[in-house]
Amino acid sequence: MKAAITATGRYFPAREVPNSYFYDDLGLDTNDEWIVSRTGIETRRLADPSKGETCSFMATQAARACLADAGLEAGDLDAIVVATVTPDQPLPSVACFTQAALGAKGFAFDLVAACSGFVYGLDVCAAMVESGRAKRVMFIGADHMSSILDFADRNTCILFGDAAGAVLIEQVPDDHPGTIHRSLLRADGTGAKHLQIPAGGGRLPIDEGILAERMHKVKQEGRVVFRHAVSSIVKVVRQYFEEEQLDVEDVALFIPHQANRRIIEAAADRLRVPRDKTVITIDRFANTTAASIPTALDLAREEGRVKVGDRLLFATFGAGFTWGAQTITWGV
Ligand code: COA
Repeated sequence: MKAAITATGRYFPAREVPNSYFYDDLGLDTNDEWIVSRTGIETRRLADPSKGETCSFMATQAARACLADAGLEAGDLDAIVVATVTPDQPLPSVACFTQAALGAKGFAFDLVAACSGFVYGLDVCAAMVESGRAKRVMFIGADHMSSILDFADRNTCILFGDAAGAVLIEQVPDDHPGTIHRSLLRADGTGAKHLQIPAGGGRLPIDEGILAERMHKVKQEGRVVFRHAVSSIVKVVRQYFEEEQLDVEDVALFIPHQANRRIIEAAADRLRVPRDKTVITIDRFANTTAASIPTALDLAREEGRVKVGDRLLFATFGAGFTWGAQTITWGV
């Protein structure tokens, strides 16, 4: 039994926030030239919770778009899985809220792997489908990053955006052109301290001191993360190619996690992937964590860049540290 991605969908909030918001509106000591040259980000979309735009709202909208692409109803799904680090509330899962909003049945759970959430979750969902435990899984990468950012910290708040991207993972016959191939996943928990939200869990429950020190918001040592990201992505993709006996020429499109344009271009150059085969969306949407790869895939399809038989390479790096590489062959 094999699994394939047979449909995609996405949701971006309507509210567009250009770089000027951070210096003109928030008064931060930053500027457009710094942000564009160091990150490649020109603008991003941020959710408006007063309009109900939470993580599960975005996930539901992306899933609806994906169901429409597939020509299916919510009742056709066996499971809903959401990769996220920004749930609507600590309990229950975004997947359960999404299931209820869609009017779906079947089991539902969230998965936490930060910016690697899509690649990790794709592997988990593909394994469930290949084993026959579920025939049709709606898998969504969704993150409401603006809910965990410190908008007084210029080092982090300029980097992220909000979005959700959905893929339908289905059982397909062996002669179907589409396939989710094996992945190569990695983690190194000793890197946790470099990118984290220190408080808000059992170790440091929220109190006034925590709130005053903004310890319930994202903290990052950007330079350390940058260095690890480039070298880890290059190493894991090289190992993946070797184990799968693939060559860069076999890859029709490289769809990396969108953390920083310089990370993407440095990794692509070292892997010898040409620019026209590299999908970049960070300029328009910034880093949307678990949503970055599925939204980039959906946009690439819309732009006519994905054809039946194409081998697509996903690669990622994120908090944990977690990272990995994965390929699919497109089949619809
Ligand atoms: N505007 C202006 N200056 C800024 C700034 C901003 N928004 N943010 C940081 N700076 C300053 C720093 O304070 C530092 O000043 P200092 O030298 O006086 O201390 C200076 O710019 C250079 O900082 P540095 O961290 O060396 O810059 P960088 O080239 O590494 O770029 C990041 C910073 C965050 C863009 C980059 O490190 C990065 O993208 N890291 C990975 C982030 C990431 O991908 N995270 C998600 C994981 S998936």
